[in-house]
Amino acid sequence: MGVMEQEKSAFAAALALQCAWGADEALMESPADRLAVREAPSRAPPARPTPEPAPRPIRAAPVAPASAPPALARAEALAEAATDLAALKAAIAAFDGSPLRETATNLVFGEGITEAGLMLIGEAPGADEDRAGRPFVGASGQLLDRMFASVGLSRESNFYITNILPWRPPGNRTPTDAEVALFLPFLRRQVALIRPKRLVLVGGVAAKGLIGGKEGITRLRGRWHEVEIAGLGRLPALPTLHPAYLLRSPASKREAWADLLLLRRMLDQAPG
Ligand code: URA
Repeated sequence: MGVMEQEKSAFAAALALQCAWGADEALMESPADRLAVREAPSRAPPARPTPEPAPRPIRAAPVAPASAPPALARAEALAEAATDLAALKAAIAAFDGSPLRETATNLVFGEGITEAGLMLIGEAPGADEDRAGRPFVGASGQLLDRMFASVGLSRESNFYITNILPWRPPGNRTPTDAEVALFLPFLRRQVALIRPKRLVLVGGVAAKGLIGGKEGITRLRGRWHEVEIAGLGRLPALPTLHPAYLLRSPASKREAWADLLLLRRMLDQAPG
């Protein structure tokens, strides 16, 4: 193998290793070695060749002016000022307090029947949702649609569906607690504007984000809780297993089915 081929296969191996570690987004035009020691500038630098230009980010990270209120306070103020869903969507799109906006492709706001009285809240868009700008359209969304159809419910007729986060976390990683806290004012405002009678919290991130506490989804699911929403009071909320989890653990579909029956019973007893 010639030197060129050797270098090529070394680069290919390094790239494969990055992929195995979960890197699936190129954020810079060229790689930056964050561990490299930077030389401190000396007063009289010795003559040396012109340094390589520093890698230029494709999309500059948002820089809030030093006097700007913290991101959470800005999120709260923007959310409160939105008086309808269109204004709320525009406010989220304009909010520059999270780097998630810089790596995502499309804002995923929510869709379905706003007057249905039932609102489903998931975790965050994945790659398919990010491409489409719509919630739950990938494999787990299709399973969710089939599950809800089995109790006679669809986003076309019976519920509105959205996520805790409106932007896809890079590589589909689980949202951090800080990201959830930052976007909760927008989600809470979305609930307040839609005014559902009840919520379904799809997965542990949505359940923990809205119910709080330390209990995981396997303990929270299977019974109704209450979620306080400004202007609406306490809404009944049913946590259930996330369809992405059910795709990995099909045996747990029994529990998800029990949750759906609980929802169906509630809707039959007190239609929205
Ligand atoms: N998982 C979620 O929680 N939400 C989506 O929109 C897609 C997958």
